[in-house]
Amino acid sequence: MNSPNRLLIIVLILASFVMSCTQKKSTTGDQQMNTFISDLMGQMTLEEKLGQLNLPASGDIVTGTASSSDIGEKIKKGQVGGLFNIKTAEKIRAVQQIAVDESRLKIPLIFGMDVIHGYQTLFPIPLGLSCSWDMELIEKSARLAAQEASADGICWTFSPMVDISRDPRWGRVSEGSGEDPYLGSQIAGAMVKGYQGDDLRKNNTILSCVKHFALYGAIEAGREYNTVDMSRIRMYNEYLPPYKAAVDAGAGTVMAAFNEIDGIPATANKWLLDDLLRKDWGFNGFVVTDYTAIMELEEHGIGNLQEVSALSLKAGIDMDMVSDGLLTTLKESLDEGKVTQQQIDQACRRILEAKYKLGLFEDPYRYCDVNRSKTEVFTPENRQVAREIAAQTLVLLKNDNQVLPLQAGKTIALVGPLADNRENMPGTWSVAGDFARSVSLLDGLKNALGGEAKILYAMGTNVVSDPELDARISIFGKPTKWDKRSQKEMIAEAVTAARKSDVVIAAMGEAAEMSGEAACRTNIELPENQKELLKALLATGKPVVMVLFTGRPLAIAAEKANIPAILNVWFAGSEAGDAIADVLLGKVNPSGKLTMTFPQNVGQIPIFYNHKNTGRPLAEGKWFSKFRSNYLDVPNEPLYPFGYGLSYTTFDYKNLKLSDSNLIADGELKVSVEVTNSGNYDGAEVVQLYLRDMVGTVTRPVKELKGFQKVLLKKGEIRTVEFTLTEKDLRFYNSDLQFVSEPGDFKVFVGTNSANTLEASFVLK
Ligand code: NOJ
Repeated sequence: MNSPNRLLIIVLILASFVMSCTQKKSTTGDQQMNTFISDLMGQMTLEEKLGQLNLPASGDIVTGTASSSDIGEKIKKGQVGGLFNIKTAEKIRAVQQIAVDESRLKIPLIFGMDVIHGYQTLFPIPLGLSCSWDMELIEKSARLAAQEASADGICWTFSPMVDISRDPRWGRVSEGSGEDPYLGSQIAGAMVKGYQGDDLRKNNTILSCVKHFALYGAIEAGREYNTVDMSRIRMYNEYLPPYKAAVDAGAGTVMAAFNEIDGIPATANKWLLDDLLRKDWGFNGFVVTDYTAIMELEEHGIGNLQEVSALSLKAGIDMDMVSDGLLTTLKESLDEGKVTQQQIDQACRRILEAKYKLGLFEDPYRYCDVNRSKTEVFTPENRQVAREIAAQTLVLLKNDNQVLPLQAGKTIALVGPLADNRENMPGTWSVAGDFARSVSLLDGLKNALGGEAKILYAMGTNVVSDPELDARISIFGKPTKWDKRSQKEMIAEAVTAARKSDVVIAAMGEAAEMSGEAACRTNIELPENQKELLKALLATGKPVVMVLFTGRPLAIAAEKANIPAILNVWFAGSEAGDAIADVLLGKVNPSGKLTMTFPQNVGQIPIFYNHKNTGRPLAEGKWFSKFRSNYLDVPNEPLYPFGYGLSYTTFDYKNLKLSDSNLIADGELKVSVEVTNSGNYDGAEVVQLYLRDMVGTVTRPVKELKGFQKVLLKKGEIRTVEFTLTEKDLRFYNSDLQFVSEPGDFKVFVGTNSANTLEASFVLK
């Protein structure tokens, strides 16, 4: 702080602040920032500018294939702009100190991390969170994540991940909000607001990074890092809206995707990063690559490191995560006239702007308050909120004979490889978690029941039976807890427990790292050994409740057919066990609704509700018709449709009414429906509104979500739920990529899920 350069920076900030006091408020901030950054850049060498574009990984947390060494030395030389995957306020303070005390210009570093669904207090995986359909809760989860991360030194998160995904073979569906662009857009905006708050300079708000731009969710065959090929019209209507919503909500940074688009990898795609993102959408933050993505352009086959680094910069990349490509090759490219000084300056300026907006020049240690990290992380209050949120994300798939909620005073056999497994509760991408302190289902039931009920626990089987596969999924501190006993012995123990009980709870499904990055599956059924255990449990004649842990929709047709009750719990975070117990015991009535279709089998994939009609649709209610769009062996219907989820109570829909049979261009149409809680419990219902544009200049989906409301209805309560539609809700991208509506007939559907709706019609005049 006492060096001449540090002083100079402070003097510059103060000077520009004093000057600005006489200027208009709306422009002062920007002018101050611009003056400050121009002055600073005026002092920077080319090498120092390139240093700002460089983002090595700390090596603290391993998530990819490369890690940089000698980071301390590089920081001193001004060759590092930020660091990621390093945590704790102490460590980050120490590294920041190298930058501000030992580098020539004392420019602070920006510290990023994958804070994806909470920091140490972990919320459900994003796919689970989306099933709450509750924007306030989702924003709150991001707010608390930012609060905790910023207390521990982090000022930038690589979230939200908003890739629309329709292929559950892809492990990363767990990280996103499912298949719907409308819902995905709302969630994208809520997450950005939650992280960034209303003022990035506050020490408890962090910069967000919307990813992976773009279309990563459409990789071929659901195989990680694979190719994407898509028409523009599909992109604009179905895949791009959530990224745009995040940008509109003010996301400060964007991460380019690994995949290619129109044959050019996103990292080097000028159309994507410049024409679309910056020029059309007006994005003015910085764009970071994904991990080693510049290096990977060589593997894609579009040039050597020097060439691809130049291509990336020219396309619109500002910061290079881990490749060292921009740092080490751009000087040569500049000398050879392959890039311009202006392009380098532009990228450097954008990164300095982000640091400025975070307030790092004023106080580089703004996020390194050791006191905060001791008092604001993993607090009982945050954990309580996480528990409440988690309970809202569980989806009741089946509940025959009202097996659930569990009756008091019964003996419970708790069986299955996920029943007593704290480490696997948080799910994928939980790098700051303290897994041993998560609440397992066994913990949760014990906490809830105390001495009231007897719980007989048996593991029953391993997660998978193949030890090699088990090793692949027992990573990142999340062992599956392989039991060496024979399958026969383990099943026998579980059956004995079941026989002594009134009800069996079978905690089955995936381990946490069976979904997430580079965790794709071609078979998305339950592993055979788990099926075998289930059969044995069902054979006891005791009622079985399957508590299904999963990071993706699973193909569970056989289980749906045979098991009386299924509660899908995703990976519900650090408080999972308590939240699941709350729902199993009826303290919380489940209200989660699926945001991704569950297929009957893997052959139906990709399967999604908002598909096109085709020229030969299958008539409604039919199983098969020759020369129609269908399969010989399985009906077209999914196992569970988008929007599906049961409650302990029942909701009846009637009296769908429109305020008019026409909607005029600048008018409004009110759509109302009467919803009755006709069952025996108070409960929340997500009332969903879909539209179909019956005739268009281009073909339109059979249904599109255009509104939803989550309403809490007391037992017996009747509520009229009203939606307002305007012409804007009917717009889409036509074949010229103009965002328009087209007059004509529309259908409106309102109901409890995408397949079970009431229906009415109107005309757009
Ligand atoms: C690779 C992943 O694709 C991305 O989502 C993540 O943010 C980075 N690694 C950094 O860990």
